[in-house]
Amino acid sequence: MDYRNALVTGGSKGIGAAICAALVAKGLTVYAVGRDQPALERLAEHLGPSLKSIAADVRDHDAIAASLGRTEIDILVNNAGGLSTVKPLHQQTAEETEEVVALNLTAPLQLMRLLLPGMIARRRGHIFNLTSTAASGVFPGTTTYGAAKAGLSQAGRILRYDLAGTGVRLTEIAPGRVETEFYLKAFDGDGEQLREKMYTHQRPLRPDDIAAVLISALQLPSHADIAEIILSPSEQAAGGHVYAPAPNIGDNVGDKSRSN
Ligand SMILES: NC(=O)c1ccc[n+]([C@@H]2O[C@H](COP(=O)([O-])OP(=O)(O)OC[C@H]3O[C@@H](n4cnc5c(N)ncnc54)[C@H](OP(=O)(O)O)[C@@H]3O)[C@@H](O)[C@H]2O)c1
Repeated sequence: MDYRNALVTGGSKGIGAAICAALVAKGLTVYAVGRDQPALERLAEHLGPSLKSIAADVRDHDAIAASLGRTEIDILVNNAGGLSTVKPLHQQTAEETEEVVALNLTAPLQLMRLLLPGMIARRRGHIFNLTSTAASGVFPGTTTYGAAKAGLSQAGRILRYDLAGTGVRLTEIAPGRVETEFYLKAFDGDGEQLREKMYTHQRPLRPDDIAAVLISALQLPSHADIAEIILSPSEQAAGGHVYAPAPNIGDNVGDKSRSN
């Protein structure tokens, strides 16, 4: 691979940390962005000097640009993302709605805007956008998150037109359920019970699975560009439906099962 430097947002844990490890193993220097400085330090200890940490909020693209200085980034992995709660839009606070869009949509757009000119000038670059099966499926309680991920997905489709022939590739990876702390932080209730239900009784993807797919897209010859990858656990079909009883008909009518 001609690539030398990668920037991975949300590199401190979960899927991002696995991606950092896989890129370092391929001989790249990786700049990992996250707010949790101790977690970044632990990762740097584990991966060695090829892992450089940038302790910053991903929404602060000026701070990230200042930390990078003149470093030429060849690979941008827009991985940082998440949702603080799983509940209907009308039960979210204004701040939460704004934050979920800023984290999952605005920040990746700003980083692409910042780093693309250098990639295009060097005719060398690969952008990965981590979206979700929630970008196209229906998962109750994730209106803003799903909308932001769908926005990033569509941004990628449009941008690929603008990038055609520039030497810069763009790949969207839309995972289904991956075992990280992601959902456990967002759902109310007993986290351990949820972990048992989501990750023991049902087989999820592992962060390493996402990293492996990213590396295989990266290693394709430069004339080949995988546009979109949907990666789900074998037992998960993307989507989700709620069948609630119609008003005034009574509880014994209708299927109330949630399948997300
Ligand atoms: N896990 C799943 O089932 C799943 C499914 C589909 C898509 N995804 C997507 O995959 C990506 C990674 O998720 P994950 O499961 O690995 O989640 P995770 O374990 O919760 O990790 C999230 C990462 O994002 C970083 N992050 C969050 N907010 C940030 C901010 N404001 N500034 C900088 N970094 C921030 C966190 O770093 P700090 O704590 O250090 O800030 C952390 O490294 C996300 O985009 C998520 O939407 C996950």
